[in-house]
Amino acid sequence: MSRKTMIAGNWKMNNTVAEARELVEGLKARASEIAGVDVVVCPPVTTLAYAAEQFAGTPVKVGAQNVHWAESGAYTGEVSASMLKEIPVEYVIIGHSERRQYFGETDGTVNQRVKAALAAGLTPIVCVGELLEQRETGETEAVVKTQVEVGLDGLTADDAAKIVVAYEPVWAIGTGLTASPEQAQEVHAFLRNLLRGLFGAVADGIRILYGGSMKPANAKDLLAQADIDGGLIGGASLKADDFMGIILSG
Ligand code: PGA
Repeated sequence: MSRKTMIAGNWKMNNTVAEARELVEGLKARASEIAGVDVVVCPPVTTLAYAAEQFAGTPVKVGAQNVHWAESGAYTGEVSASMLKEIPVEYVIIGHSERRQYFGETDGTVNQRVKAALAAGLTPIVCVGELLEQRETGETEAVVKTQVEVGLDGLTADDAAKIVVAYEPVWAIGTGLTASPEQAQEVHAFLRNLLRGLFGAVADGIRILYGGSMKPANAKDLLAQADIDGGLIGGASLKADDFMGIILSG
């Protein structure tokens, strides 16, 4: 099954509307170069509406970086799926390692968020990945297996067909240390097999993105791997030319 490459930019907690202008204009100016690749940008919540408005009618789609599982209620600081849909936003990153590390995100809360996103018609980009010490002690596969099994628990094959998975080794995020194409492919192939065991043939259509210091200089080799279907880009998504460089490697 062929899978359309996806390049998603995770702006993290960067860019007020004023600060985002140059990047947004830069991407819009080059949007006609985008072909055969799904492109998503995920700004902070305060910049979502601006981004959605600016990218309307272009091939660039907009995603959020988190979503709560409840429809509404007493959850100070959180955002619901219907609030994101109203903007409108189409994608949402769920379970990023920074959410897990600093904000108490667990596989259980990832699971609740994924279900809420799917129920609202948002496409979840579900992040998994091991810490450096887990890689060094040979636990990578066991760690991502639990993250997938618990994070996607209760999903049907139809649900699974709608999600995107991102493999982001935590030691490669923001460090300049990229997984080698072979290291990444090994885990991506493992994840694909795991998804096949859980959901059957739809696994062959699920996009598995790589994230962790992806940049124009290394994107081509990573994206050439059989089970690497795109990238989730942090730092290099903040400069239009760098992000476009990755998009054009896809
Ligand atoms: P990075 O971040 O590209 O800056 O390493 C990737 C991510 O955290 O999604």
